[in-house]
Amino acid sequence: MCGILCYLGKRPALPILLEGLRKLEYRGYDSSGVAIMEGGEVFCQKAVGKIQALEANLAGVTWQGSGGIAHTRWATHGRPSVENAHPQKDCREKIFIIHNGIIENHQSLKKQLLSLGHRFCSDTDTEVLAHLIEEHYQGDLEEAVKAALRLVEGAYGIGVICVDHPEEIVVARKGSPLILGIGEEEVFAASDVSALVSHTKEVIYLQDNDVAVLHASGYNISNLNYDSILRRTQQVEWDVEAAEKQGFPHFMLKEIYEQPEAVENAMRGRLIEQEGISKLGGLDGVHDEFLGMERLMIVSMGTSYYAALLGRYIIETCTDIPVEVDLASEFRYRKLNIREGTAVLAISQSGETADTLAAVQEAQRKGALVLGMVNVVGSSIARETDAGVYNHAGPEIGVASTKAFLSQLTILYLITLALARHQRMSLSEGQAFIAELKLIPDKIRRILDSASQIEAIARRYHGYKSFLYLGRKFNYPIALEGALKLKEISYIHAEGYAAGEMKHGPIALIDENFPSVCLAPRDSAYEKMVSNIQEVKARNGRVIAVGTEGDTDLQEICDEFIEVPATDEILLPLLMVVPLQLLAYYIARENGCEIDQPRNLAKAVTVE
Ligand code: F6R
Repeated sequence: MCGILCYLGKRPALPILLEGLRKLEYRGYDSSGVAIMEGGEVFCQKAVGKIQALEANLAGVTWQGSGGIAHTRWATHGRPSVENAHPQKDCREKIFIIHNGIIENHQSLKKQLLSLGHRFCSDTDTEVLAHLIEEHYQGDLEEAVKAALRLVEGAYGIGVICVDHPEEIVVARKGSPLILGIGEEEVFAASDVSALVSHTKEVIYLQDNDVAVLHASGYNISNLNYDSILRRTQQVEWDVEAAEKQGFPHFMLKEIYEQPEAVENAMRGRLIEQEGISKLGGLDGVHDEFLGMERLMIVSMGTSYYAALLGRYIIETCTDIPVEVDLASEFRYRKLNIREGTAVLAISQSGETADTLAAVQEAQRKGALVLGMVNVVGSSIARETDAGVYNHAGPEIGVASTKAFLSQLTILYLITLALARHQRMSLSEGQAFIAELKLIPDKIRRILDSASQIEAIARRYHGYKSFLYLGRKFNYPIALEGALKLKEISYIHAEGYAAGEMKHGPIALIDENFPSVCLAPRDSAYEKMVSNIQEVKARNGRVIAVGTEGDTDLQEICDEFIEVPATDEILLPLLMVVPLQLLAYYIARENGCEIDQPRNLAKAVTVE
């Protein structure tokens, strides 16, 4: 998704902005651009494709200006092209703007601006904003930006510069993240802390409707009505190293290997073994409503949605609370019967997923208790929910979610434990649950130690064009997640199915060219999974089975066998998903795919 970075200080801005754009690459983008203020002029350069293309266009450039704006664009209005890349500018090429989000009323605004004589050179909604600012500009950039924003409907995080104001950058946010970074005689603004954390750890999270005027010596924040606003500065905990690959060839692999710690971090300080309970500090403020909920609705997208699907199985298994799970994008289309006692839980790694945020807002309008589970501290969903739990999984840079998923599952187990102990789970059951959960990180390490076996399977299977993933009960959501991982990073067609559903259609696809990945641990669904495997084999289908350590019976009927350590059936998903992530990773690597930034995908989908 689009990335924003602004710099104003004493140092040449160009290298700082280019380095920052690289840090934003993981969000996914199709073009980039930069504009630098120097000697009463603004120099702008843009390119389609990777940052290297922009750097190539800048070869030989000696701009020394110490203020500028930069952007990575992920196309929403208008195809990826140099014209549509940001910065966008006004007719007189005085005002330059970078923008994340969508101006919803851009068409009507453009009509008016055209009738006033403005000339457009892109298909973007952002250019409309540049001309709107120009229309209101009478020598005061802040005033012109505010006047324009008053007319705008939609979401924005923007950075604006003007030839007449070389000592000033105006930034604003509404519905799209924007963070100020405060340095020594320099100031930054970015859509993501990773772009500025190598320069300063002192940050301010701007809130909706904030407009900040930046100068090298400081900043002023106010709203569109000029009421001045005080925002707390915070220290960022993430260091630069945490966001680097640490010797792994890809962020995704590094993050797969970080999963034992992700699970430990999600549990840290949240388990009271003696009492057999979990304690989630972020829910303290709504303690009684949380434990007393009569119905839970979980909303999320993508991988986070599959975590939610598992949440339904485990909460309903251990408590009397009925759980509904919705894709956040579909939530609004339902006739929601939210009554007292209904809690809505939004799960989102980024905390910025537009559909999930919209579902949060809808649930709030309907009067539900709205809880969040997010990884990115200070993100929109974290701020807009009534209470919530942070994942503490650290930055997830690979576009395909891995460690955040394990972390989400872990917290869902903690939520289940808290609710179950309040209801029918006994002290000894609670203690046993915790004891088993605490063994999981080491069991994941054992699976990771056998990665070379999975790598070898990937070498044998990377040429297939389609895969079926089958699972039952707790491992049905894991089959869906395994298929998603494969398709998003290797572009191979993969379908996840509840194994029982196979006979109702997908079985027609099975032949020697359509392998099935079957999740068949020794659990209560084992016998039925074995029958499904035999059905696949009877049609000449190849089977890659993931099963329990030492299950030679299973090994004998499958073409490939990947083992995971035994654990309680309810906790198995925490182990079963790991080989599937590795399989997807190694197949994608064999096929030479761009693993950390798959085509067409973005780390945070901030448009609906
Ligand atoms: C898949 C993936 C996406 C996200 C989805 C929701 O690997 O990463 O499917 O899970 O876009 O994102 P968050 O969790 O940030 O709301």
